[in-house]
Amino acid sequence: MSRPAIAIARAIFPQVVERLQSHFDVVTNQQDTLLSGPELAAFARGKAGLLCTGSERIDPALLAACPDLKICANMAVGYNNFDLDAMTAARVLATNTPDVLTETTADFGFALLMAAARRVTESEHFLRAGQWTRWSYDMFAGQDVHGSTLGIIGMGRIGQGIARRGALGFGMRVIYHNRSRLDPALEADCQAQYVSKEELLRTADHVVLVVPYSAASHHTIGAAELAMMKPTAVLVNIARGGIVDDVALAQALRERRIAAAGLDVFEGEPQVHPDLLALSNVVLTPHIASASVPTRLAMANLAADNLIDFLVHGRPRTALNAQALGLA
Ligand code: DGY
Repeated sequence: MSRPAIAIARAIFPQVVERLQSHFDVVTNQQDTLLSGPELAAFARGKAGLLCTGSERIDPALLAACPDLKICANMAVGYNNFDLDAMTAARVLATNTPDVLTETTADFGFALLMAAARRVTESEHFLRAGQWTRWSYDMFAGQDVHGSTLGIIGMGRIGQGIARRGALGFGMRVIYHNRSRLDPALEADCQAQYVSKEELLRTADHVVLVVPYSAASHHTIGAAELAMMKPTAVLVNIARGGIVDDVALAQALRERRIAAAGLDVFEGEPQVHPDLLALSNVVLTPHIASASVPTRLAMANLAADNLIDFLVHGRPRTALNAQALGLA
């Protein structure tokens, strides 16, 4: 019996490629060549499944060029690279990788918060540049994290993980804003209090963004919102580029209208706005919040599970449009 054919758009763990090869005819891109839209379409043409990452856009042009496609398995929890309506119209199942990256990503939110508030990377650059010739009382004095008020915008699983870390580990008062309020038991478990976005921005000592990207969440933080924040506040974005207006943020940081920022995601990444690159009070990382070895392996395996479960057993696993396709 012929086996389904799948394409893996990017380099992934060899053991996961081997797992997939035991079920499918597989074309790989282990050299990790970056494929343009038409190149990706040519790569995926004639395949029933595609394993992709957040860097690959699944849009109407690709779907039209790949009529045999039945499933796109994203190796990411965020799926703003998917045109979900177009996928549903083309009867292509869309899957992502929730849960497996929650704690690792929440850890990284705290890593960026701590690094920005306590000026870790800025002081390290100073030391490496040979500028440390003597100690002084205010050298790289930053902001405290413990005991402060933490504001979280976006209270999904990762936001909840950050809330627990803040409340239990750092003795923080946690406030949050979300499209919908959590049920009281979950709020109590996270020790988090629901407030309006404006109250959060005015009250929080530090703000962490974990909201998914959509047209509605574009520029959740712009000049007006930055103006509401405390001058001692730190802003952390581990959600998606486009949630923050990077130009407005660079201006607020340059004018010290907020103290610092920690950013893992950017508008137009992998390009980073030169205004941000020029500033010392921002910690910049290349979209690595979920990048621990065990978590990236778990993400790759979950994307593979999605392909196997659907193409071999006919069962959707962590699917985004199974209901819309009448499969759930
Ligand atoms: C995710 O899973 O959405 C992370 O941002 C990695 O892309």
